Amino acid sequence: MTASTGSGVWAVLVAAGRGERFGGKRPKAFANLAGRPLLAESLERLESSDWVEALVVVAPPEWEEPCILLAEEIGAGKVHAAVSGGATRADSVRAGVAEVPEEASVLLVHDAARPLLQDEVVERVVTAIGEGWDGAVPALPLADTVKLAEGEAVAETVDRAGLFAVQTPQAFLAGPLRRALAGVDDATDCAGLVEAAGGRVRLVEGDRRLVKVTTPADLDFVETLLGAER
Ligand code: CTP
Ligand code: MG
Repeated sequence: MTASTGSGVWAVLVAAGRGERFGGKRPKAFANLAGRPLLAESLERLESSDWVEALVVVAPPEWEEPCILLAEEIGAGKVHAAVSGGATRADSVRAGVAEVPEEASVLLVHDAARPLLQDEVVERVVTAIGEGWDGAVPALPLADTVKLAEGEAVAETVDRAGLFAVQTPQAFLAGPLRRALAGVDDATDCAGLVEAAGGRVRLVEGDRRLVKVTTPADLDFVETLLGAER
């Protein structure tokens, strides 16, 4: 698979979360990152990726219009639609995927909460799909020692060998993801749904800059990384 427009790769950018751990009056996707809504960063990067043909933004309920205006402001002409998300992340992904035409062969699902997307990561996950995998996810080996707790007490120190922390963007063959989304959802990421449905998912190298903004401190950290990138 090579990078080109007409690549058949559609991105679903999920931004519909409330950001409860983040706090604040607006949804987290509209928190201020270096003078722009957080969402602008990942939107712009997906827009400029040659791997991505078109994208769907999944907005917090009542925030579809601001998403479209933002896309216009940054000249994101690949945005096909902004739709309202659901109660869970899986519901939001489902709402976004429903807007993607049947012709799309590969679906790329990305969290707006991970603004510092490098195109090399998109290349790695999309390439894995071209090599025959049902799904591909960026992952980093765990660096910290891992403990299993029972209340406040350590029950066990878990062997971290073979354990990975998984990020987005996650790429999937359209068919397996659509089928997995139609079934049960008790997974915290899309890959989990595809795995549960019997799909083969590959780990590719993740990127430390793809940290997820969960709290205001994470946003400060991301702003520092963004400054260093420029
Ligand atoms: N997301 C979504 N719809 C939901 C829940 C989450 O589109 N119902 C998106 C978020 O907007 C975010 C990504 O999924 O880009 C990862 O979720 P998370 O970081 O947990 O964001 P929130 O759910 O908004 O935060 P919190 O869990 O603190 O409320
Ligand atoms: Mg959440």
